[in-house]
Amino acid sequence: MTAKETCPKCRDTSWVLKDSKGSTVAVRCSCYKEQKNQAYFDQAGIPKRYTNCSFNNFETHNETHQHAKKIAQKFVKDYPALNAGLLFIGPCGVGKTHLSVAIMNELIWKKTISCYFCDFRELIRNIQSSYSTESRITESEVLFPIFQKDLLVLDELGAKRTTAWVEETVFYIINHRYNQKKLTVFTSNYIDDGEDEEDTRDSFFKRKDDSLVDRIGIRLRSRLYEMCKIVNMEGDDYRKKIKQASYRNI
Ligand SMILES: Nc1ncnc2c1ncn2[C@@H]1O[C@H](COP(=O)(O)OP(=O)(O)OP(=O)(O)O)[C@@H](O)[C@H]1O
Ligand SMILES: [Mg+2]
Ligand SMILES: [Zn+2]
Repeated sequence: MTAKETCPKCRDTSWVLKDSKGSTVAVRCSCYKEQKNQAYFDQAGIPKRYTNCSFNNFETHNETHQHAKKIAQKFVKDYPALNAGLLFIGPCGVGKTHLSVAIMNELIWKKTISCYFCDFRELIRNIQSSYSTESRITESEVLFPIFQKDLLVLDELGAKRTTAWVEETVFYIINHRYNQKKLTVFTSNYIDDGEDEEDTRDSFFKRKDDSLVDRIGIRLRSRLYEMCKIVNMEGDDYRKKIKQASYRNI
């Protein structure tokens, strides 16, 4: 018994015949793009909690939300004609990861762009464990999607305190993408004290001594300035303010 055909238009061959100026030519069936987008989505490594994040379900509670959303939408619209990625900076729960995944979803489903989501700590852990003799995965296997995908989202930059090794490794990764003219979207909790910004959230400011440069080093931060547009986000912790409130009725 053969498997059931899923596309009656091309009988699952991905090609359809079309008339063009009197002769018959083979062109890609519409299902080809849908399958490719689905494959890109499946390989993008987006955490389950965030798979539905979009611009539509991103609420704008203040001006920085509006600004960040506008920049993110422009990024998608202009892609790939861009010369810088983005770095969303702000306290926890303001929607940095949400907006980054919304960018990925739009690029995958509307522009068929290969994207990859990567948590900074997990990346460092995976590279470190690839060095162990028992590891079944090599460093180059860990780094393959990081280098190869057209758009990388590196979430929670600086979430692990830097050591010379971490700094060197992350610099190598970021520099490699930069040299290949591949764009990266970063998120970080650590304020960039090179910027004149005001924030009202106490917890955010209490860590002023623990800034982005403390976490990732001067060299990397300088590279980020060149590679990314910095987008500062402020506001309440959505998890606490809105999600927690919605559990009150349970
Ligand atoms: N403006 C928003 N509109 C809709 N949902 C939001 C918004 N901000 C945050 N959320 C939701 O709240 C949760 C936390 O948001 P998110 O993970 O994007 O925050 P974050 O800024 O990345 O925080 P952290 O610094 O802790 O990583 C997610 O489920 C996200 O979808
Ligand atoms: Mg986040
Ligand atoms: Zn088809």
